[in-house]
Amino acid sequence: MKRRISSIGMVCVVTVVLIFTLSLTAQAVEWKMALGDASGGTQWEVGTQFAKLLEKHSNGKITVALFPNGQLGSEQETVQNCRLGTLDLAVVAINNVTPFSPKVGLLTLPYMILSLEDAVKLTQGPIGQQLTEDTIKAAGVRILGWAYSGFRVLTNSKRPVRRVKDLKGLVIRVPKNAIMIATYKAWGINPTPMAWDETFTALQQKVVDGQDNPYITNYVMKFYEVQKYVTNIRYLFSLEPLIISEGLFQRQSPETQKILLAAGKEASEHCRQFIIAKEDGIKKELVKLGMQIDDPADNEKEFIERATKKVWPKFYKSIGGKDKVAETLKMLGREFPF
Ligand code: MLT
Repeated sequence: MKRRISSIGMVCVVTVVLIFTLSLTAQAVEWKMALGDASGGTQWEVGTQFAKLLEKHSNGKITVALFPNGQLGSEQETVQNCRLGTLDLAVVAINNVTPFSPKVGLLTLPYMILSLEDAVKLTQGPIGQQLTEDTIKAAGVRILGWAYSGFRVLTNSKRPVRRVKDLKGLVIRVPKNAIMIATYKAWGINPTPMAWDETFTALQQKVVDGQDNPYITNYVMKFYEVQKYVTNIRYLFSLEPLIISEGLFQRQSPETQKILLAAGKEASEHCRQFIIAKEDGIKKELVKLGMQIDDPADNEKEFIERATKKVWPKFYKSIGGKDKVAETLKMLGREFPF
């Protein structure tokens, strides 16, 4: 009799453990996050911080596995996959979202953002909120947070570039982004549009001579191994949104949605502090590694004049009208530059 009771007890314990394990398995999920850059940069920083916060506030129900270095495809492919729902999350440069959501082109207009403060004001204020909504509609992805990566500086393997005319004859890779292509055309050259994950090899094999990206990206991607000259231009501040598939977001409970939004916001602030703490040191490190950094001549006047006058009017329509540009400038406390 005693034996019978103890074996019934055993069955009960096993059943409870099994039910508990099954229910945990049913509830706990692991999401995939694609990153275009190598680990150690701002994409990695915003992504890991977001993952930590999400795991903590969901009580371990949602974990995130990060896939850096374009392992899950080019940045534009990963935006497309989030839109289709075959990928959960990604951190990509804003210029790689613009082809799917033309209105965010406002943030890639050359010399629109002139400082980290401008970048934060635009992304965290009503304009950023509006762009998030536009992107949900146009691209099927929701921006949860932002990596702030610094200005994109120009690098090349051939010679110092200080004036617009020094660009002549250089083959420069740009992302497949119409505004960036138009900017280099305004500077007098025909750039080579190319996906991010092909760029290092193209520089190494000298298919192209140069490219532009922030100091931190040039550093984590080891571009100092294949590039010598840096021009400290400030035409584009690199913003890198952390996006989630809108379908996935909509399937979450209101409580989880709140956690996702809060984790994105907190991770953005973390990244803002990270770039402030890191950028100067990285610049020095790049010099130690053999890069030569030059400032553009005349306070960049010629670069600025050509890029604004010739490029902005071409994109007023796609970014929501000239009034949108005026509203943005007003918010930043500036006048039209031409
Ligand atoms: C690009 O140049 O395509 C991107 O800015 C690269 C990046 O995401 O760091």
